Formats: sequence, C-alpha cells, structure tokens
Amino acid sequence: MMDAIEVIRAKRDAGELTTGQIDWVIDAYTRGEVADEQMSALAMAILLNGMNRREIADWTQAMIRSGERMDWSGLDRATADKHSTGGVGDKITLPLAPVVAACGAYVPQLSGRGLGHTGGTLDKLESIPGWRASLSNGEMLGVLRSAGAVVCAAGSGLAPADKKLYALRDVTGTVESIPLIASSIMSKKIAEGTGALVLDVKVGSGAFMKTPETARELAETMVALGTDAGVRTVALLTAMDRPLGRTVGNALEVEESVEVLAGGGPEDVVELTVRLAQEMLEAAGISGKDPAKALVDGSAMDAWRRMVAAQGGDPDALLPRAAETLTVEVPESGVLTRLDAYAVGLAAWRLGAGRARKEDPVSFGAGVTLHAKPGDLVRAGQPLLTLHADETARFERALAALEGGYAVGTVSEDQLPLIIDRVTAT
Ligand code: URA
Repeated sequence: MMDAIEVIRAKRDAGELTTGQIDWVIDAYTRGEVADEQMSALAMAILLNGMNRREIADWTQAMIRSGERMDWSGLDRATADKHSTGGVGDKITLPLAPVVAACGAYVPQLSGRGLGHTGGTLDKLESIPGWRASLSNGEMLGVLRSAGAVVCAAGSGLAPADKKLYALRDVTGTVESIPLIASSIMSKKIAEGTGALVLDVKVGSGAFMKTPETARELAETMVALGTDAGVRTVALLTAMDRPLGRTVGNALEVEESVEVLAGGGPEDVVELTVRLAQEMLEAAGISGKDPAKALVDGSAMDAWRRMVAAQGGDPDALLPRAAETLTVEVPESGVLTRLDAYAVGLAAWRLGAGRARKEDPVSFGAGVTLHAKPGDLVRAGQPLLTLHADETARFERALAALEGGYAVGTVSEDQLPLIIDRVTAT
C-alpha cells in the first residue's frame, strides 16, 4: 500500500521516484484515489525538480496503460503520423496528412483543440460544414481504409490519465515542464499505435519552447521515449518566431491549406509540408515517392477530398467568413524586420479564433491575414494585416496585442531558419 504524501515528499526533496511509485500514483490518480490537490503538488515538484530518463519512461508507460492502445498492424500499409508542439498559423497537418496518404502510407492522426494563443487542428477542420471530429474506432478504421488518412479527436479511452493530468496542469501553472510535456505527448502518440512518428518541435515566441536549446532537450526526450517504445521517431526543430504561412485562424487556415493542396500556397507552408512528408515516408520505410509531386499532380487533393467527405464534410462548401474586417497599414516604408508569432497568435485569439476555457466555442471566420512576412520590402500605407472578427468590439484588444509586435527598418534582421535542426535517436 503506497501513500501519495510519501511520493510527493520524495519528489519535493529532489529524490528519484521508483517504478512502483510511478505506476501506483498514475493508476490511483486515474481512479480518483489520489486527489487533484495531491497530483497538483506532485506536478509542481516535478516541474521544479525534474525527472530522469528512467522516471520519464515509466511515467509515460503508466499513462499509456491507463487506457486502451490502438493497433493498426492488421493494415496492408505502413502507418505514419506527425505531432507538432503547437504554433501560430500551424496548419501543416491539413495538407500533410493527405499528401502522405497519397504517397502510400496510412496516417491515423488523433489531434487536439486549441487552447490559449495556439490553434488546434480539430477547430480548423470543424470550420468545414458537416465535418465530424468524433469517430468510433471502427469509423476511424473505415476512413483510414477509404481515404488513407484520418484526423479525429482522441476518444476518452486513450491515455485517460493524461487527459485528467493535462487539465489539472493547465490550471496549476505546471504545463511548462519538459518531463511532463514529453510524457503527455508521447503517451498519446504511442497509445495511438502509429508505426512511425515525426515530431515538429516549434521554437520561438509563438511556441512553448522559446530557444533552440530547450526545444532540443524536449525533442531528444520525446525521440528517446518513442524509440524505446518501438515507434520509429525523429524530430525537426522548426521556426515559430513568426507565424507560419499567411493566415492565422480556423477557416482562413483551411483555405490556405487547400491552396497548398492545389499546388500553390505560401513557400514556408509548402517547404515544411514537403519536408515533414519526406521524413514520415522515410520513417515508415516507403521510398521512391515525391510529396512535392503529389501536391502538384492532384493526388494529394484527391486524398484530402476523400478524407473530408468520409468524415461528413463537404469539400466544396463555402467556408464561414467573419462579418467584420479591419486593415492594419504599414507605418513607414522599408523592410519588415519583425512580425512576432506570439503577438499575431494573441491577436487572432482575441478576435475570436481561439478559446479561453476548453468548453468555449470558437469563431470559425475570425483571425488574421498577413500581407507581408519578415524580410519583405514594404511601403508606407500598404496593407500589412487584415483582422477578421464577428464583432467590431473585438478589434481594440486585438490591436493592443499587436502593439510592438511588428517593426519596419532599413536592413533585414536575422530570423531563425525555417528548419533549424533534426534530432534522431542516439
Ligand atoms: N501538448 C500535450 O499534449 N501535452 C502537453 O503537456 C503539452 C502540449
């Protein structure tokens, strides 16, 4: 018989938790035997004192065992998935899942909703009229077989310990801990049953990880967890100091993704989609396929249309638009030296694209369109941003979020390269 207080004290005093203690505390917490206040104290002790590799692996495995583990081994093709640690304008899953399906892998992806200034893939897809995020395991398999890719919400049976713990961390200031983030993400991805996994670890103002060093530590921790669990896992560190692409907001990002699937779209979105697709195919052991070609020959678009339709969505439907717009103009001529990801993400959130509490609705049409990106030459008075909202009352706070979030100068400033580094198992 174990005791929660003993486990909390051990970590409070910077001790190492035993496998038995970790297994017990995760199981007892899931069953409600360890109280929320006890788990909050333990999460804070972990945030402050860390966990070693063995403890993180045990913690992850215990969270996987708290629920079901999906199994796609009966399928006739390899499975591959991607997980992004979250950013501003990060719509990559939307073109990526169909492009990888078009190149011959199955993509079973369980995604989340946005919270705070970062958007969620499910919110974006839900802006397509009729599209359904909740599927049974049988429906998920059916969509995977017919479309090659499925993007849906994780059911309540998958890593329930993480669901409970993540909600608790969200309100107790204990999200920003590498052991807790790594185990949270990887418990869900391993339980999802994918054979290959590519992690897109974002770096910069709009991401959890503000520096390449902390992002690398998170990436290495997650790659080790995946590899040890038998999932072929690699990670890319990618830039999130500026938004990705030219749109931030649910329906706006779907529109941009469809442009990419039609062979166009912004250069950074195309480059990252193609690179992540190549990594997924390599990790899945599929060679001789060119994702860049699938974007221009229509095969990725065909997979997208099948995927959307198989989940009840109408790929030809008009997407929701916000009722009101406001243009922000370039203040002076020169080079756009900065357009900060966090400032734009916060503005989009305040315009209604995101939610403050997880039960809040989102506005599908709200968000920000970017008319220039850092490094572009701009002229005074030309449009820099268009803000989209359902009510004009939202503009003032969105403009306040953008204050100091962009700058025009005479010479280009250094920005992070789009793809900063690649992390593989050591
Ligand atoms: N995403 C997750 O799923 N878990 C975390 O802890 C952070 C981001």
